[in-house]
Amino acid sequence: MATTPRTATAHATSTRILTTNNHLIRWVEKMADLTQPAAIHWIDGSEEENDYLCRQLVEAGTFTKLNEKLWPGCYYARSSPNDVARVEDRTFICSLSKDNAGPTNNWEDPYVMRKKLKALFRGSMRGRTMYVLPYSMGPIGSPMSQIGVQLTDSAYAVVNMRIMARIGAPVFAEIDRDVKRVVPCMHSVGAPLAPGQEDVAWPQNDTKYIVHFPESREIWSYGSGYGGNALLGKKCFALRIASNIARDEGWMAEHMLILGVESPTGEKTYVAAAFPSACGKTNFAMMIPPKSFKGWKVWTVGDDIAWIRPDKSGQLRAINPEAGFFGVAPGTSAKTNPNAMKTLSRNTIFTNVALTPDGGVWWEGMTDEPPAECTDWLGQRWTPEIGRATGKPAAHPNGRFTSPVAQCPSIDMEAWESPDGVPISAFLFGGRRATSIPLVFQAFNWSSGVYLGATMGSETTAAAAGVLGKVRRDPMAMLPFCGYHMGDYFRHWLRMQRDLSTTPRVFHVNWFLKDENGKFLWPGYSENMRVLKWVVDRVRGRAQGKETPIGWTPHYEDMQWDGLAMSQEDFDRLLLVDRAAWRKEVMGHEELFLLLHDHLPPEMIYERELLICRL
Ligand code: GTP
Ligand code: SPV
Ligand code: MN
Repeated sequence: MATTPRTATAHATSTRILTTNNHLIRWVEKMADLTQPAAIHWIDGSEEENDYLCRQLVEAGTFTKLNEKLWPGCYYARSSPNDVARVEDRTFICSLSKDNAGPTNNWEDPYVMRKKLKALFRGSMRGRTMYVLPYSMGPIGSPMSQIGVQLTDSAYAVVNMRIMARIGAPVFAEIDRDVKRVVPCMHSVGAPLAPGQEDVAWPQNDTKYIVHFPESREIWSYGSGYGGNALLGKKCFALRIASNIARDEGWMAEHMLILGVESPTGEKTYVAAAFPSACGKTNFAMMIPPKSFKGWKVWTVGDDIAWIRPDKSGQLRAINPEAGFFGVAPGTSAKTNPNAMKTLSRNTIFTNVALTPDGGVWWEGMTDEPPAECTDWLGQRWTPEIGRATGKPAAHPNGRFTSPVAQCPSIDMEAWESPDGVPISAFLFGGRRATSIPLVFQAFNWSSGVYLGATMGSETTAAAAGVLGKVRRDPMAMLPFCGYHMGDYFRHWLRMQRDLSTTPRVFHVNWFLKDENGKFLWPGYSENMRVLKWVVDRVRGRAQGKETPIGWTPHYEDMQWDGLAMSQEDFDRLLLVDRAAWRKEVMGHEELFLLLHDHLPPEMIYERELLICRL
């Protein structure tokens, strides 16, 4: 592979300083002093600049340009096998006091951590270009938006962030107006180049640190170029730092999709749903209702993160702070998620999926028939026979696509960039649970709803490094993303009610129940519309519910079954509240509560007691 001199001279605007903000200029100088890059490139966000960066990435071997006829505007990347997912055990919340980070986050004394980081970042960009990447989470200028500047030595991170957030010149203009605090974000892949040293296609470092300083609102990320570790606007800012800002300012930063349900009469109901990583948010957010749901439509606002705030009248309103989808590729197909397939058909970056001989991409589940031959995510020849013999998939289970939200056919055009956000009528919580948790149930009230979110559990997925398939408590799907003490986070949820004139209804869903043979009991995907319709009907006061010890469940006849063979018996199995299993479940809640005990709001204990009594 040819060595590519990564100087910035080939792009006309690259070395020009694009801000008049002296704080920013001085910080960039200071960080350049520390990291010693060969060049500094201020990102304007233009098409021309993006083409230039993509060309550089192709020359460096990081990107392969896909077949322009089949996949227009698309690129393909393979990461290093040691850099394929978020690294939760290397993620730190360095608040001034350990107590503020809580027992569910890694913590280190901020003074000690800063010293460590300084040492790691010293000279870490040698031989590379440092990009100065300004970005806005949320529409530029919206009162709900926040601004960050990421300094990074990864062009891959820049071109992905260009899809995921609003970046470049308009954000510098916003910074120059000097009305919003800017969150500084340092990012280095930690692979400096000595003079003449040949680069690798995916630079990274085996030592990784993803560090947040909540009080000073800073992010430092070292050693990884992948997803949530490197696209710092996403989990690091929009969840971990933003959850701190939100607590202080009385709003919410959540790991939630946002969608709008339109009924045949044109009535629109917006819901937000928290499912853990790789548990179906993207699928649910883009759902196409079954044919028998004539006149019903689902509109997409966001698939991963929601910033939610009460308006003057006490109605909760949500924005999607992102501008792109960073979606799980495996399992995505024209059958399971046609809107995602259309979204990712152009102007998309694919990472860690398989490359086909005609310059296209493939992943498990994309088609019924795998290609006769392809190159797998590790760069090895892969055939269905090899796959069967080795048990190794062609695409990494956490292989992903980066696509612009605006390309999604179901995007809610009027609402998704609205600076005020959409009104939220219901919250859904849901995990991946093979047993015990029914298809759907509704909490009795806000505080039992908060309990329900706080105690949700899920089987772990490939979206994070670690053991797969083990049930762990993942409160509000925020376990890896809450930037402060989880007990205080529950209290914040409870307190939010005070500022609301109407509280959203709260539901729990589970698409992942399995039978004794490990087969899914619920067809899922577009059939989830049946559950969503019951949710909307409950919100609108149109549907009945049956009281059970854990909440209200639908009766068989409360749900629309046209077009799906569902017997009363199968339905009863999906909605079963197994008291014995639930008593065990409560023990799991207890374990979490013991961990959080010194910050746990008393309401959580009362709710648990009430639940035990009802059981
Ligand atoms: P992050 O981007 O990691 O936060 O995850 P996400 O929640 O957006 O995950 P996504 O929608 O991409 O879900 C990925 C996995 O869930 C894939 O393996 C899908 O096949 C599976 N999945 C999604 N919806 C359903 C469903 O209704 N039923 C079943 N059985 N699987 C589903
Ligand atoms: C998740 O893991 O929840 C994601 C993917 O959405 S990443 O951005 O890599 O965290
Ligand atoms: Mn996510």
